Amino acid sequence: ITFIDGDRGILNYRGYPIEQLAEKCDYLEVAYLVLYGELPTQDQYDEWVFDITHHTILHENVKDLMAGFRYDAHPMGMLASTVAALSTFYPEAKNVHDPLVRRRQVHRMIAKMPTLAAFAYRHSAGLPYVYPDNVLSYCGNFLQMMFRITDAKYDVNPVLERALNVLFILHADHEQNCSTSAMRGIGSSQPDPYSAAAGAIAALYGPLHGGANEQVLRMLKDIGSKDRVPAFIKEVKQSGGEVRPMGFGHRVYKNYDPRARIIKMLADQVFEVTGRNPLLDIALELERIALSDDYFLSRKLYPNVDFYSGIIYQAMKFPVDMYPVLFAIPRM
Ligand code: CMC
Repeated sequence: ITFIDGDRGILNYRGYPIEQLAEKCDYLEVAYLVLYGELPTQDQYDEWVFDITHHTILHENVKDLMAGFRYDAHPMGMLASTVAALSTFYPEAKNVHDPLVRRRQVHRMIAKMPTLAAFAYRHSAGLPYVYPDNVLSYCGNFLQMMFRITDAKYDVNPVLERALNVLFILHADHEQNCSTSAMRGIGSSQPDPYSAAAGAIAALYGPLHGGANEQVLRMLKDIGSKDRVPAFIKEVKQSGGEVRPMGFGHRVYKNYDPRARIIKMLADQVFEVTGRNPLLDIALELERIALSDDYFLSRKLYPNVDFYSGIIYQAMKFPVDMYPVLFAIPRM
C-alpha cells in the first residue's frame, strides 16, 4: 500500500508520490486510493463521498457516553473509548468475513471519526455538540463541527480546508508503524474492527508516535524564545539521550521526512490567513542549529512529520491536546 525509501526520503501511496497526492487530491480521494489501490473515477468518487457523508451522524447514546467523561478528559482517551463503544452499536460488524459488512464499517469508521473527535473537543470546552452538515466536504464539515458557535451556517475558509486536506493526506498511511501493527495484531484474532481500532488509537497515543505533535508544541513553549534554543540543544547533548527533542528522528527516515517538507511549505499559506505563529521562529532555529550539529547529523536526526504540523494546528486554533486526534482521524 505504502512504499517508503527512508534513505532517499521517498513516500508513495499505491505508487503515487506523496507530493503529487498532496497537491492534486482531496483526503477522501486518497483514502479511496489507499483502500482500493486506484484513484476513483468521477462516478466512484461521487458514490464514495455520498456513502461517507451519510454515515457521519452518531447514535444519540454516544453523546450520553461522552457526557460521562470528566471536563478535562484527554480527547485521545475519549476517542479510543468511544470508538471501542461503537462495536456495541454495530454488533453485525463482527461478521468480518462478509465483504458487504466490512464495507459498511469502512464507511462508518471514516465518517464518524471527525464527529467523535469534534464532540470530544466540544465536551472539554463545555460547548454544545454541533451535528454534521452534509453539504460540506469531509474537512469543511469537521471544521464546522469543531468551531461553529452560534451562527446557523459556518463559512469554511477554503485555505484552511485545503490545509487540513493536505495534512490528512500526509497522515493517511505509513507502512507497518506502531498503530497499524496494533490494528493488524488485534484484527488477526477477528474481533470487530472498532475493537481493533480502539487498540490502534491507544498505540498512536504514545509520545514516540502520534502523540509527538502534542509534545513538540509543549517543548517549543517550554523553550520559550529563539535565543534559548542553543541552551536547549546543550541540555539534549548532555542528557545522554534522556532529553529528546520531540519531532526529531524517525525509525525509517534517516535523511529527511518528505512529509515535513510539504508541511513546512503549507505553513506559509496557513499563516497568511491566521497570522504567523511565533513558535515557528523557535522551530526554525531548532532545525537550523540541529542540522548543523554533529550530534544530530551523526545520529541522522531530522525533523519528522510531527515537527511542523502542531504549529499549523495551533494557528488554526486547534487545542494542543487535539493534535494526536488530528493524526488518528486520517490514519483510520
Ligand atoms: N532527540 C535526540 N536523540 C534522539 C532522538 C531525538 N528526537 N531520537 C533518537 N535519538 C537518538 C537516540 O538516543 C540514539 O542515540 P545513541 O545512538 O547515542 O543511543 C539514536 O538517536 C538512535 O535512536 P533510536 O531510538 O534507535 O532511534 P529509532 O529510530 O528507534 O527511534 C523514534 C525513532 C521516532 C522513536 C525517535 O527518533 C524518537 O523518540 N523521536 C522523538 C519522538 C517523535 O518525534 N516521534 C514521532 C515519529 S514520526 C510520526 C510517527 O509516524 O509516529
